Amino acid sequence: MTDTGLDLGIVPMRDGHIKRHGPEGFEGMRKAGQLSARALDMLTEHVRPGVTTQQIDDLVRMFYLDHGAVPATLFYRGYTRSSCTSINHVICHGIPNTKPLREGDIINIDVTCVYEGWHGDTSRMFNVGKIKRKAERLVNATYEAMMRGIAIVKPGNTFGDIGHVIQKYAESQRYSVVRDFCGHGLGRLFHDAPNVLHFGDRGTGAVLEPGMFFTIEPMLNIGKPDARILDDGWTAVTRDKSLSAQFEHSVGVIEDGVEIFTKSPAGLDRPPYT
Ligand code: MF3
Ligand code: CO
Ligand code: CO
Repeated sequence: MTDTGLDLGIVPMRDGHIKRHGPEGFEGMRKAGQLSARALDMLTEHVRPGVTTQQIDDLVRMFYLDHGAVPATLFYRGYTRSSCTSINHVICHGIPNTKPLREGDIINIDVTCVYEGWHGDTSRMFNVGKIKRKAERLVNATYEAMMRGIAIVKPGNTFGDIGHVIQKYAESQRYSVVRDFCGHGLGRLFHDAPNVLHFGDRGTGAVLEPGMFFTIEPMLNIGKPDARILDDGWTAVTRDKSLSAQFEHSVGVIEDGVEIFTKSPAGLDRPPYT
């Protein structure tokens, strides 16, 4: 995701012109999106106690390169990995390392490829072994929040409508929505206009039009929404150390609604994946 620039002191992306893509854009996004969904499908059996996030990252990089794609995050703004691996209280942009996963962890794995010039960006939560009920509830609610946001995508609705339904659902379940990071336009660019906020008011923001491509990637916390960036310059954690979860799909607006580019061909869009 991209930062909203609200209070992290990073230059915010200005909400400029939102591109509208034609059939060849949809064709490109389908291929890139499917490849990223398959990368996450491939990881499913590997996410278990004892495995390191660096091993997961190696699998992602090899999968993409084997399929004629390039990891979009590799050397992106100084980032040196092919995925982000965000465990427990890490909100997003966790950097793969050599620490083994532990039974009960929840982990978001976020992957993006560039395939024939188009970007496929998606993430899912994975359970490491058996997880606690309160973690499972958070993960389920986060998936539901994303899907409610996606369900409202159609020409004539606004970006504010998307943020509104996500926030409303999350808060109805007593979770908070992270404000400091958001979804984004994408296509030939990884991060393009607009910023797609996961909170907001009905009827505000730009009007959705056919051909717009963007991500919806809400982050929900059990505690407060506030984020802090670790000294590595990337890892975003909850200030109160509460658990955080996220899901992400890349989507396109079509005449009668929405096309999800990153749906799992294996039906593994949400846990449990067993
Ligand atoms: N995939 C992330 C997103 O959803 C972006 C990660 S950028 C990185 O937009 F540099 F942190 F990898
Ligand atoms: Co994204
Ligand atoms: Co992503």
